Amino acid sequence: MSTSIIGASVTRIDGPRKVGGSARYAVDYALDNLAYGVPLGSTVGNARIAHIDTSVAERMPGVLAILHHGNTEPLFRPAEQLEHSRAGEARPPFEDDRVYYYGQYVALVVANTREQAQDAAFKVKVDYDSSKPAVVMSDVPAPPGPPRIHYQRGNAASAFEAAPVRIDETYVIPVETHNPMEMHATIAHWNGDKLTLYASTQGVVNYQNTVSEMLGVPVDRIQVLSPFCGSGFGGKLFPWPQSLLAAVGARRVGRPVAVQLPRSLMFTTVGHRPLTQQRMRIGATQEGKLLSIQHDVLQPTSMVDVYVEGCTGVTTMLYNCDNVEATQQLVNLNIGTPTPMRGPGIVPGLFPLESAMDELAIRLNLDPLELRLRNYAEQDPSYNPPRPFSSKRLRECYQTGAEKWGWSKRTPAVGSMRQGNEILGWGVATATWHAGRGSATVRVRLNADGTARASCATQDIGTGTYTIFAQVVSDKTGIPVSRIDVVLGDSSLPNGPTSGGSTVTATVLPAVAQATDDAIGRVIQAALSTPGSPFYQEGGQQNGSAPPQLAMTNGRIHQAGQSPDSGVPFQQILAAGKYAALEGEARTAPDPKEAHTFSAHSFGAQFIEVTWDPGIARLRVSRGLTVIDAGRIINEKTGRNQILGAAVMGIGMAMFEETIYDPRNAKPLNNNFADYLVSTNADIPDLDCVFVQYPDLHLNEYGARGIGEIGLAGVAPALTMAVYHATGVRVRKLPVRIENLLNGQEQKVA
Ligand code: MOS
Repeated sequence: MSTSIIGASVTRIDGPRKVGGSARYAVDYALDNLAYGVPLGSTVGNARIAHIDTSVAERMPGVLAILHHGNTEPLFRPAEQLEHSRAGEARPPFEDDRVYYYGQYVALVVANTREQAQDAAFKVKVDYDSSKPAVVMSDVPAPPGPPRIHYQRGNAASAFEAAPVRIDETYVIPVETHNPMEMHATIAHWNGDKLTLYASTQGVVNYQNTVSEMLGVPVDRIQVLSPFCGSGFGGKLFPWPQSLLAAVGARRVGRPVAVQLPRSLMFTTVGHRPLTQQRMRIGATQEGKLLSIQHDVLQPTSMVDVYVEGCTGVTTMLYNCDNVEATQQLVNLNIGTPTPMRGPGIVPGLFPLESAMDELAIRLNLDPLELRLRNYAEQDPSYNPPRPFSSKRLRECYQTGAEKWGWSKRTPAVGSMRQGNEILGWGVATATWHAGRGSATVRVRLNADGTARASCATQDIGTGTYTIFAQVVSDKTGIPVSRIDVVLGDSSLPNGPTSGGSTVTATVLPAVAQATDDAIGRVIQAALSTPGSPFYQEGGQQNGSAPPQLAMTNGRIHQAGQSPDSGVPFQQILAAGKYAALEGEARTAPDPKEAHTFSAHSFGAQFIEVTWDPGIARLRVSRGLTVIDAGRIINEKTGRNQILGAAVMGIGMAMFEETIYDPRNAKPLNNNFADYLVSTNADIPDLDCVFVQYPDLHLNEYGARGIGEIGLAGVAPALTMAVYHATGVRVRKLPVRIENLLNGQEQKVA
């Protein structure tokens, strides 16, 4: 592998299309005769629909159809546990007259224009027989039966009882709602018995499979297109009910139908990070050696599906500790189904773990980095026997970060670091995310005009996937990225992975590389066998001499070991054989032996500085540094972009984000961008990120692990630790609110 373009800072190849406006997102496909569907969400959280009156709405201008459970065939439920097959919610829309959560779709109005559909939707009258919804966990009895997750090693309960130092605190992360720029949208277009879906999705293949199952239409008659996606953060991993409504609506009216959710419905019917209430008990020696960890999580899911936010996994693997017990239990609420949100499980699981570690460090009067080093796990202790990591450089992350930050200048006493009228607070936390890899098939074509094309049914959700495809093809062939066309976001292409779990890079790189090698091999074959090629040998093998070994460098085919200048541009070979293109294809999959020998995770250290002005009660984040060990970084520019973007999201998680429900009807009250706050420019200080790069060759030959999620992982605990350092107030229930700091009280939850 050459050192050239892999690892360089390569500008996104799709950037000009995005900036110039020619990149088309789902609802940008202005199909002929397009009609618009507006879903109507329930205005109660727990009810039976007594009656739907559409008589007024039906007579309104432009209205084509109004679909609801009374006039629509029930769909199939998605099969569970199938690879590549998952709907956002197990219950199909319009299944019956039951309403299980506020915002559940009770009707779809289809009209000539969006405005007409919306106008008519306001006039659909729904009468409900309502019951009191369960909105908060205290509304429902403690769940019976064994916990959903139960992990145990050693005897944590007795080790805790005997421990000389004990921390026992409960932490709460509220519901957070994914708010990508582009809202969920689908255009459904039937052409005979074939269905084309233009969708905003993180997984065209899963979307195709799931819609196929739920509509009862064979997979090969469904094509899902998502060449551009205005991000998803996990919310678009699966097709949610509006995707199916678009297809059913289009079938009903015999025209293509576009359904785009308004921002308000982004809060009810397309998932969210569930609230988690997490009790963390840690026992330790006076020297800071961990003796026990107990982590107990309570989490709501919906009435219509089971979603487990696996918060405890990180607790079992991050630190050396002989006695660990972790449980997670679910309760059912009348709120829509939760779903993965950037860093699912680990991000909310790290908040209590890293917060409790900080509380322990303070109790022991120990530097928080030193406490972590004293419990550093050289092997993954969650396995029995412990498993070696494929590659772990967390120690170096701590050290590099501390040096770059100036951590040695820290004075630990609360309020002891001042800057003018303001008090500085510093915090640090560990970040981690598991490194996964799946299978992928990629096709690479070398064209007679000297360009190349790579294609795969994966998608670029804003992360830079287009660009790394081009980098690998360029690295192998020497064709500049500007002459490489990458085609993604189309389910009819060779099977590719869902953009989820930070796995796409590690998954597709080997397939792109092998497919490119395969295509090069075909050109070399042609070079040897085509009359007119400078490498053509008349009679081939028959004249007894071995064929020359050929290679491709800088776009030229030449004798191996000789200068590329001695050869010819590859397009000359194609021209000689009158080939329009030569194509290679490869399917690659992880080596199961590696997967069972090593534990593969990325790691990082995240530092946050806040400034607290007690005179005017102003808290600002003033500095942030993330040091990441994610193996080899393929594109420094888009890689930094991922980490810094995640850190911005982490500031939002710590300072602003919380979906608030009306206890009477489970309505999300702040279902808009005025009331649901996310970080904006004014909240974002100088953020930096550094990669310590050690290729993880157990995962793939490029040594790359994923980086989409890890940058979020440690921000919230580092930030609340910084808040404690500045103010003396430990915030255990996110987000940090000024009122917590004004009263100066320790925040006790549960
Ligand atoms: Mo990520 S939550 O797997 O999109």
